[in-house]
Amino acid sequence: MIKKVLTACAAAVVLASSIFSLTGCGEKKLCKVYEDYFKIGATMNFGNYVLYDDIVGEFNSMTCENEMKWNILQPTEGEFNYSLADQMVEYAQENGLGVRGHCIGWHHKDAVPSWVYEGTYDDAKARLLTHAKEVVTHFGDAVYAWDVWNEMLTDDWDNDDTNLYRVSTADDATNGSRWHELAGLARNQSAEDRQAANDKIEELIVDTFAAAREVAPEGTKLYYNEYFANNTYKVDKLIVMLEHLLAKGCEIDGVGIQAHYDITSFDPVMLEDMIVRINALGLDVQITEIDFSMYDYNADTDLRYTEFTQEMEELQASCYGKAFEIFRKHADKISCVTQWGVADDSSYLFNIPVKNRNDWPYIFDAQHEKKLAYDAIVDF
Ligand code: GLA
Repeated sequence: MIKKVLTACAAAVVLASSIFSLTGCGEKKLCKVYEDYFKIGATMNFGNYVLYDDIVGEFNSMTCENEMKWNILQPTEGEFNYSLADQMVEYAQENGLGVRGHCIGWHHKDAVPSWVYEGTYDDAKARLLTHAKEVVTHFGDAVYAWDVWNEMLTDDWDNDDTNLYRVSTADDATNGSRWHELAGLARNQSAEDRQAANDKIEELIVDTFAAAREVAPEGTKLYYNEYFANNTYKVDKLIVMLEHLLAKGCEIDGVGIQAHYDITSFDPVMLEDMIVRINALGLDVQITEIDFSMYDYNADTDLRYTEFTQEMEELQASCYGKAFEIFRKHADKISCVTQWGVADDSSYLFNIPVKNRNDWPYIFDAQHEKKLAYDAIVDF
């Protein structure tokens, strides 16, 4: 009897491993090349993930582009809808990919329903903590890392380390935030008022991490996620914020560096410096949203390329190559590198920041063939 059970177990293991090798990180795949360094991720959405069966095996981590954001998971108070995310998680699991959860707290008006902010700071914070506990509980073991907060820092280019966070939407309609408004942040306020508001923002972050930690399965990693756009002051602000959070007992494991770059202004020195400085605080790093657009973010909106030239492809390959050289050098500090998309047939960059614009940001082309950027990453 025991022998029969053992034989059945052995058969199951053989079957499982052959299924895994069909779909998971096979020989010569990107994630296989990097298996001793860090996970290799891609971001997909509900509209495009079915397109990528042919190359999904290159990756061993997946982020849902929008399907785990607040407006999709809890559009109406108390009514959770996990159907899109659950289908994508199932697809990831069938293909041997772990899942990053993105994101619990954010200010973006398209991603957070306005009912969340009704009433006082305390009312909104209570809804946030409920949301955090619900979603982390729902996904449980299926998500190995969460972006607990996304993009809290100001974009101001100054070295004032009391000016850390966004301001109210009244002060800045584009970059302002309702969370920051409820916490009392405003332009031109007294040092005392700003300090009190900064404390409330940090309390919001610390308490969200605590709520997520309380219900997360053991081993789940919790991150703060942020973009930097070559603003070195913002890196200084990040470090000050992290020092405050750690002093306040924040249960944070690491920082997600979004890394939305472009081929004209990429600054590898700043990227490396950031990885080293985050790690010096005892925190892990994940590169959560890398891509290399053809356009500087602030480029004239009339600039619209119609063709991906050889020169662009070479420059892009050299950018990806340099970035991954840094990632390999600091592999002891980095646990995952995720491309914000899969292949050039589908990208948020076709509409952000300029509507209907061509771009070629990824390592696979629109036919899912490997670009020079792919070679630059694997040939080392
Ligand atoms: C940020 C967010 C992502 C995504 C991109 C697209 O980086 O973290 O979820 O929305 O912007 O612009």
